[in-house]
Amino acid sequence: MSAPNGILLIGTGRLAFHLGHAFLRSGTNLIGLAGRNAARTRELALALRTTPFAINEPWPEADLYLLAVSDDAIPGLAALITPRDAVVAHTSGAQPLDGLAPHVHRGVLWPVQSFSPGEPADLTRTPLVVDGNTEKVTTLLLDVARSLSGNVVRLPLEQRRTVHLAAVFASNFPVFLLHEAQRLLRQEGLDPEILLPLWSSVARKAALVGPGEALTGPARRGDATTLQRHADQLTHDPDLRRAYALLSELIGKRFGPHSA
Ligand SMILES: NC(=O)c1ccc[n+]([C@@H]2O[C@H](COP(=O)([O-])OP(=O)(O)OC[C@H]3O[C@@H](n4cnc5c(N)ncnc54)[C@H](OP(=O)(O)O)[C@@H]3O)[C@@H](O)[C@H]2O)c1
Repeated sequence: MSAPNGILLIGTGRLAFHLGHAFLRSGTNLIGLAGRNAARTRELALALRTTPFAINEPWPEADLYLLAVSDDAIPGLAALITPRDAVVAHTSGAQPLDGLAPHVHRGVLWPVQSFSPGEPADLTRTPLVVDGNTEKVTTLLLDVARSLSGNVVRLPLEQRRTVHLAAVFASNFPVFLLHEAQRLLRQEGLDPEILLPLWSSVARKAALVGPGEALTGPARRGDATTLQRHADQLTHDPDLRRAYALLSELIGKRFGPHSA
C-alpha cells in the first residue's frame, strides 16, 4: 500500500474529478476530499466514497495532501495544512515546489493529459510526472503514481517545465486551431463536423509515423498560389491571417522545399 494512512485530495475541479476516480478504481485509501464549494465537495466526495471537508475546517492526518487546485491557489492552501511529517504535493506541470512551504516534504504529481468534464478518464497509460524535494516524497509519489499508471517518470523542475511548454504546443494550440477552423466554417454556414474525421485520423497518423512524416499541406509543398489565396480569404480576420502566415513560414523553414 503506497499511502497506508491515506490521501487527502484538495479540489473539486477537472483534475480532482478524474484523479479521484482513478484513486477509487485503484483501491487507494482516499480519506477525504476538501473543497471550497460545499455542494460540489459533497457531490464529488459521495461519488468517490470518501468524506467531504470544507477548506476552513481541520483536516484529518494523511500521508499525502494532494492539491489539485488552480496554480495560483496552491501556496495559500498549502499554508492551511498543519505542518507535520506528511507529504504535501500539487498537480501542476508549471509550478515549482517552493509554493508548498512551510512543509518539509514537498512534491508534484503531474498527469501529462488534458482533462475535461465527462466520464472518468482511464489513467492507466497516462504519463505521470513525479518530483520531490526529499527521498521520502519521491518514494511515496512514485508509489502512488505507479498504482495509477504504468507510465511514471521522475523529472526535476526545469525538465518538467520543458515538457509542460511542449505540451502546450502539442495539445492546447492544436485544439485552439481546431476551434478557429470550425469558427471559419460556421461563419460560412458550413458544417464544422466535416473536419472531425481528418482531425482524429491525422492525430493517430502523426503518433504512428511521427509528425515530420505526417505533415502535408500547401506550406510544406511550397504551393505559393494556394498560400496567397488562403491569405486573401483571411483579410477580414487579421489575427488569424497573421497566425496563418507565421505557421506557414515555420513549416516552410522546417519542412519546405527550400528547408535545410
Ligand atoms: N485539467 C487538466 O487538463 C490538468 C492536467 C494536468 C494538471 N492540471 C493541474 O491541476 C490543477 C487543477 O486544474 P483543473 O484543471 O482541475 O482546474 P479547475 O477545473 O479550474 O479546478 C480548480 C479547482 O481549484 C479550486 N480553487 C481555486 N482557487 C481556490 C482557492 N483559493 N481555494 C480553494 N479552492 C480553490 C476550485 O474551486 P471552485 O470549484 O470552488 O472554483 C476548483 O476546485 C492545476 O494545478 C493544473 O495545472 C490540470
